[in-house]
Amino acid sequence: MNLLYIGAGFVGACSAAVSADSGHETLVFEIDPKKVESLNSGDRAAIEAWIYEDGLVELLERNRDRIRFTNDSVEMTNFVNSADAVFLCLPTPEKAGALGSTDLTYYYQALESLGANLVKRNNGEQTKRVVIVNKSTVPIDQIDQTAKRLTAAGVKNFGVVSNPEFLVEGKAIENSLHPDRVVVGAETEEDFVVMRNVYRRFYDSANVKYIEVNPYEAAAGKLLANFTLFSRIVTTYAVLGRTSEKFPHLSYEALRSVIASDPRIGSWGLYDSLFSGGSCFIKDAASLAFQFDGAGHNPELVRQILAENNNQLELFFDRAQNEAGFDWRGKNLTVLGAAFKQDTNDIRNSGSILFIEKALAAGAEKVTIFDPAASGMCEWYFNPEKKPEYARVKIVASIAEALTDSQVLLLGTDWAMFRSSAEEIIKTVTPPYLIMDGRRLLAARFGELSAAGFDIISVGSPFIAGKK
Ligand code: UDX
Repeated sequence: MNLLYIGAGFVGACSAAVSADSGHETLVFEIDPKKVESLNSGDRAAIEAWIYEDGLVELLERNRDRIRFTNDSVEMTNFVNSADAVFLCLPTPEKAGALGSTDLTYYYQALESLGANLVKRNNGEQTKRVVIVNKSTVPIDQIDQTAKRLTAAGVKNFGVVSNPEFLVEGKAIENSLHPDRVVVGAETEEDFVVMRNVYRRFYDSANVKYIEVNPYEAAAGKLLANFTLFSRIVTTYAVLGRTSEKFPHLSYEALRSVIASDPRIGSWGLYDSLFSGGSCFIKDAASLAFQFDGAGHNPELVRQILAENNNQLELFFDRAQNEAGFDWRGKNLTVLGAAFKQDTNDIRNSGSILFIEKALAAGAEKVTIFDPAASGMCEWYFNPEKKPEYARVKIVASIAEALTDSQVLLLGTDWAMFRSSAEEIIKTVTPPYLIMDGRRLLAARFGELSAAGFDIISVGSPFIAGKK
């Protein structure tokens, strides 16, 4: 089949690579020429500077003959003539200050230019049916608007399908090659048939749940799945985490193993941390609340989950002053991990970044960050042209370098390598020193570290004063 992807972000690039691997001729249209050049280059460093996903480089390389990235609209126009499906993979962020309303600017811009191309296909005859696929997370009734706009632009012989992605960053390629489920929401059998052919390898597999629903159910299903996961994580912070912080004699890990031993509960989402970030959960919960509001249903419960997630970060940050009497003014902060979680370079809604903003606002003199994958993203984010205080942020290339000349450490991302950073800490810094473990990465070493004089504030533990 001939598949066009619009948008080479994390979702577009990874999904397109898997399409090519499934044997489809795949073209990815992306407006950023630098990104196009990097993704076509075959060069690991150039690709990973944009999208750091395990297995992506290999998959692109293996399917080189079937996938191309382009920002050339003529190439896109030619391809559209024979496209069986067009996947819309555009950012659909939350509108600033609008309580969860989705900003569809990028989506509609892309749809407009796609429409202008679709009307010209087959010399204007539009003989070939094309399926437009919403892969970006969109409001539940989005397909109505999409179909209306395309029809108004004169596009004929098309269907609109909702096929949400459930990719987990850091495991996107693995997940896409071996998904638990594929969800396709369409209105006609004709469109279901096209999608079954797109996903033939999964449709025919006994290991994949291939779920066919209507397009509204597919869009709502994505929002609800993400809210279910998000609320579990945040409830973990606010109840399990708080219990272990407030009552003596409780170890977070011991409680977790008791709870997770019930197979109905399982262990996913029971890891304590300073904040649940990333590009999906927060935005999708806000969008769900906004749509509840519009439908006359009270969105309070959903909004409460969002508020508790923010509260988690506030409480954790404030513990430095409230429990350790730490004054941020003039202090140097070391940050291990800037990504919103391990195995990704994505810093969107990252707890570490939000923590750094707070430390700078509270008067921290210098912030030194080490992250094994997100240095480039940090350089871009902490550009002093955006805010003068960003000049106080430095990005370095090793744990030891980051620890030099600081009085407080934040462990902000659960990168596996930080679990064995206790030796480096003991070797490099001298107490009095405050360790803020936002991920419980050093939990097994807290006793040893406090005996060596380190004060420790960790999510899921009461304050541990270092031996004086
Ligand atoms: C999420 C969903 O898991 C995925 O199904 C959906 O398609 C997109 O959103 P992702 O954004 O990649 O995926 O992140 P996820 O691994 O779910 O983690 C989200 C945040 O919660 C991270 O900051 C993570 O560190 C944190 N988290 C996760 C916890 O604090 N505790 C946990 O137990 C799990």
